[in-house]
Amino acid sequence: MKNKILITSALPYANGPIHLGQLAGCYLPADIYYRYQKLRKRDVLHICGTDENGVPITIEAEKQGKSPKEIVDFYHNQIQESFERLGIYYDNFSRTTTSLHHKNAQDFFKRIYNNDYIVTKTAKQYYCPKCRRFLPDRYIEGICPFCGFSEARGDQCEDCGRWLDPEELKSPRCKICGEKPVLKETEHWYFRLDLMQPKLEEWIKSKKHWKNNVKRFCRGWFEDGLKPRAITRDLNWGVPVPLEEAKGKVLYVWFDAPIGYITSTMEWAVKNGQPDRWKDYWFDDDTKLVHFIGKDNIVFHAMVWPAMLMAHGDYVLPTEIPANEFLNLKGAKFSTSRRRAVWLHETLDSFEPDLLRYALSVNLPENKDTDFDWKDFQNKVNNELANILGNFINRTISFIAKNFSSKVPPATGFLNDDREMLERILKTKKNIEERIEAFELKKGIKALMELAKESNRYFDKSKPWETIKTNRNKCAQTLNTSLQIVDSLSVLMEPYLPFSSEKIVSMLNIKRNDWDRIGEPRIPKNREIGEIKILFKKVENEKIRFEKEKLGIKEVKMPETISIDEFAKVDLRVARIDSAEKVENAQKLLKMIIDIEGEKRQIVAGIAEFYTPEELVGKTIVIVANLAPAKIRGVESNGMLLAATKENELALLTVDKPMDTDAKVS
Ligand code: 2FM
Ligand code: ZN
Repeated sequence: MKNKILITSALPYANGPIHLGQLAGCYLPADIYYRYQKLRKRDVLHICGTDENGVPITIEAEKQGKSPKEIVDFYHNQIQESFERLGIYYDNFSRTTTSLHHKNAQDFFKRIYNNDYIVTKTAKQYYCPKCRRFLPDRYIEGICPFCGFSEARGDQCEDCGRWLDPEELKSPRCKICGEKPVLKETEHWYFRLDLMQPKLEEWIKSKKHWKNNVKRFCRGWFEDGLKPRAITRDLNWGVPVPLEEAKGKVLYVWFDAPIGYITSTMEWAVKNGQPDRWKDYWFDDDTKLVHFIGKDNIVFHAMVWPAMLMAHGDYVLPTEIPANEFLNLKGAKFSTSRRRAVWLHETLDSFEPDLLRYALSVNLPENKDTDFDWKDFQNKVNNELANILGNFINRTISFIAKNFSSKVPPATGFLNDDREMLERILKTKKNIEERIEAFELKKGIKALMELAKESNRYFDKSKPWETIKTNRNKCAQTLNTSLQIVDSLSVLMEPYLPFSSEKIVSMLNIKRNDWDRIGEPRIPKNREIGEIKILFKKVENEKIRFEKEKLGIKEVKMPETISIDEFAKVDLRVARIDSAEKVENAQKLLKMIIDIEGEKRQIVAGIAEFYTPEELVGKTIVIVANLAPAKIRGVESNGMLLAATKENELALLTVDKPMDTDAKVS
């Protein structure tokens, strides 16, 4: 096993708040993994920062009528603060507008330029004649040539994840004014990705255990053959290209952004008073470099960035790229630039951070896209987190408070059930270790919940509320065991639920246990336990309604109830259709003669679009027989037939078995 672990989370653009899709995609998984490694006492760093260069920023600035600097300053602070509130911990959280980063990116460029991996080319590029400017990356939109998505951007299709050349877009349009752009010549610097293909291919082949989504993506790219890619842009915001002849041009944001991982590590080293420490991670093959990303970043982390690192030559290559799929908002993609999202900072104004951490952890899009839904969030918090995990911890601690004056009861003799529970803890611990190491974090939290369920079963079976009266020794043992389980749970849950873990530690009034000692009974008898704290507050319907309304989702209101007497006033009858015909000058209406208990009646109904008269004759239907007669388009109707309707569908209510028309419906 490698000794040092350098974890990075994709640097979020400082062009909007963080949303839940991004959290589930990479930030929360990275934090869980990091916290776990910390508990194992490994030499681990978690590095991140905001991505502050390039078109994503300038577009937002133009949209808001602000300068790019104002935009990145505002969102950098907001993003950093909301991560902190959610307990996402970074050893360093940097930004890519610092002078150190500019220098690093420029040095990187120069190094691979000198190594002959960069060439210049004059090529035609889209230019908007109306706005009188070149249209790099997101300034141009059109139809994706691969998947047909109509809002694909000049550099990447958000929907299928392909990295695009703007010329490939169908029906291109200027993002600013909507005008059709023209092609105009401009000079750019291209990274010779094509030269890197053999080495890259071999390297990726060696990553046998990588997730399928990553390998599949790369395979597709290799099949198409890698091409040189422009890594400079005509833009006035970003890292200037460090060449005399490239005045006015900046580096493509995806060229400088991953270098931000290095810059952020350097900054960490300086802040820690050991300015060279970053080299221990970046220059040493003994480093496990783990990039947490969402699937839209795969191409950049599994192809372009490793190719850049190879061309540079000094740095370690990524060891793991645990890319997640998307967490969608009820089938639609979250999007910062389109402001379609559930925002982290707002969610934290309403809910405790661990509630959100839990609901996302059990729904991580590890192998396929998953959906976020507020009702589901409520169910997970109330029925799982509070009713299972919270309940076990709470019932244990309150029982001790009430019946043992808040003093830890002594272990009076382990019974089989107690021993079984301690074994279970060890099994769960091992399971969680394996799952987290394999980046199957969802399975890890599920294993923890299974242990909590099992613990409740143990508590129920031991019936301490009875033994307290009949066998106080046994009761003491049950509560002692339960408390040792709570102690172990508090460590096992820490990566997922750090705030609640902390609360438990303070309730237990003891230093957090070591990971390696989980399962060992260690809380001394008679120790006074601390004040009881509510761990997981249940989420009320009102709050969910509020969140849904914010997203424009209306709750379906059930109609008011009626009494049985009121219902009995409606005379529902079975009737047979004897004849049917169209109503003149009324396309939707049919006139029918029906039979009820031998009585013939005429009724009119708007069903001509769904049934022909011939189809209807002989059908046994259900009607409201005591509706006051009405005239529809001048034709009298003596009753109303019942049908199930939906937008463009209609189906008559008929009876399931042959019935005579003297039958009442009730
Ligand atoms: O998709 C994004 O939000 C990018 N800003 C991620 C950059 S990751 C890295 F390379 F810095
Ligand atoms: Zn334009």
